Amino acid sequence: VQYRRATTDDINAMAQIRAAVWGDVDYWVNRISGYMNGTSHAQKSLMQRIVFVAVENEIIVGFIAGHLTTRFECDGELEWINIISLHQKKGIAFALLQLLAKWFIENNSIIICVNAEPSNTAAQHFYKQNGAKPVNEYWLVWDDISIVLSK
Ligand SMILES: CC(C)(COP(=O)(O)OP(=O)(O)OC[C@H]1O[C@@H](n2cnc3c(N)ncnc32)[C@H](O)[C@@H]1OP(=O)(O)O)[C@@H](O)C(=O)NCCC(=O)NCCS
Repeated sequence: VQYRRATTDDINAMAQIRAAVWGDVDYWVNRISGYMNGTSHAQKSLMQRIVFVAVENEIIVGFIAGHLTTRFECDGELEWINIISLHQKKGIAFALLQLLAKWFIENNSIIICVNAEPSNTAAQHFYKQNGAKPVNEYWLVWDDISIVLSK
């Protein structure tokens, strides 16, 4: 598996991965392209944002997106992370999280928040396993995202 920054050519593949779990492809093409080209924003998002993809045999098997924010007194927010089902439990999400953590640190962002449905046990478990602490039913926070790099 190789990891690199996403380009606009990757939007369709990412939208399909996202739509396999929630919503439809057109919705996610719009959301992801707006996010990447800076024309649509998550709440309280600043302009600095990044998307990384995981690629196996030229196929995108997962991605992660994050941005700087002023939301909840956090420095950054993990916006999306998705790995296709066949490739889950192989450490791909962890590798993507490490890339995003490095980017946050390079951008002087230490306190990182993430939203996860209480019923999404895989996501809740993944974030907690990697050092995030729940602040309420829907949000978890890393007080210091560099913990992800020490694992
Ligand atoms: C949450 C999610 C991103 C986790 O992705 P993942 O790639 O399975 O995560 P990882 O492989 O890095 O870690 C998951 C588990 O696999 C284990 N694992 C890692 N490498 C492994 C390997 N080579 N062999 C077996 N297990 C492995 C990890 O230890 C971890 O298990 P643990 O928590 O019991 O320690 C994924 O379930 C997903 O995409 N879900 C749907 C979308 C979603 O809910 N996104 C979050 C909300 S936006």
